[in-house]
Amino acid sequence: MSSKQDSRALRFYSDVLGLEHLHYGIWKHDEELTLSNLKVAQERYQRAIIDLLPPPPARILDVGCGTGELSKALQAIGYEVEGLSPDVNHVASYSEKVGQPFHHCLFEDFEPQHPFDVVIMSESCQYIRLDKLFPVLDAAMTQEAVWIVVDYFVRDGVAGVMSKSGHTYTIFQRAVTKSQLTMDYDRDITEAVLPTLDFAANLVTRGELALSMLRQRINQRSVVLSKIVDLILWLARKELTKLEQSRILIDSDAFKEAKTYRLMRFVRS
Ligand SMILES: C[S@@+](CC[C@H](N)C(=O)[O-])C[C@H]1O[C@@H](n2cnc3c(N)ncnc32)[C@H](O)[C@@H]1O
Repeated sequence: MSSKQDSRALRFYSDVLGLEHLHYGIWKHDEELTLSNLKVAQERYQRAIIDLLPPPPARILDVGCGTGELSKALQAIGYEVEGLSPDVNHVASYSEKVGQPFHHCLFEDFEPQHPFDVVIMSESCQYIRLDKLFPVLDAAMTQEAVWIVVDYFVRDGVAGVMSKSGHTYTIFQRAVTKSQLTMDYDRDITEAVLPTLDFAANLVTRGELALSMLRQRINQRSVVLSKIVDLILWLARKELTKLEQSRILIDSDAFKEAKTYRLMRFVRS
């Protein structure tokens, strides 16, 4: 996904769905696919991160902090938090919710003024170039610091559109090994994130159904209006084809086959 598309997707989650967290959440088995359960799943995901932290007070860098929801929760329980995001939309929301410091840059370009006890990458590691990630991380961590990564990775051998977002898991692991960091916690949460995709697929199906009903009514009511709709659809044909092709991105079976979603913690070796 390009960063422009990505930023649009993130705005859809926050502006249209009213979601403050911009991640998949952790669902329990058999929970109903509703927006309120998605919000509960996102709170559960946040709790799972907090459970891996050293007790407050500690200095935390929230990398790819989104709208600042996790930072706000961490601040409320006594942590000293700094946010970092390259997205211009997050500058104001972070400062309203959390305050300063906020670093408006790519992690790759970050020059830490002091080291942190914890660095968190919640669904942001996938955007960071691996060759740049580790030197910056090294400068950003104290000797005893922990690095928490919650993200999805691409399984070996996957090609095409499903390989486009996320680091390849084995390449990521190899880079970690070279970096002198050791994983001391690893939880596979792939199954627990899938309902978010099913929820999104349901939304799309319902939207399509509503559109096709609208079209039917227009066809019945006015020939002129119906011709105008045909013209609009023809003009938008490229966008519509792209949309159809990206449908696979919200297919939970395809996701499960192509990706692994992990909650991991690392310490210095
Ligand atoms: C899917 S959102 C996750 C937001 C938030 N951490 C959460 O879990 O709700 C991805 C975040 O990563 C940020 N991001 C994208 N590229 C980045 C980079 N190179 N360095 C740091 N953050 C990046 C985006 O701006 C956005 O804030």
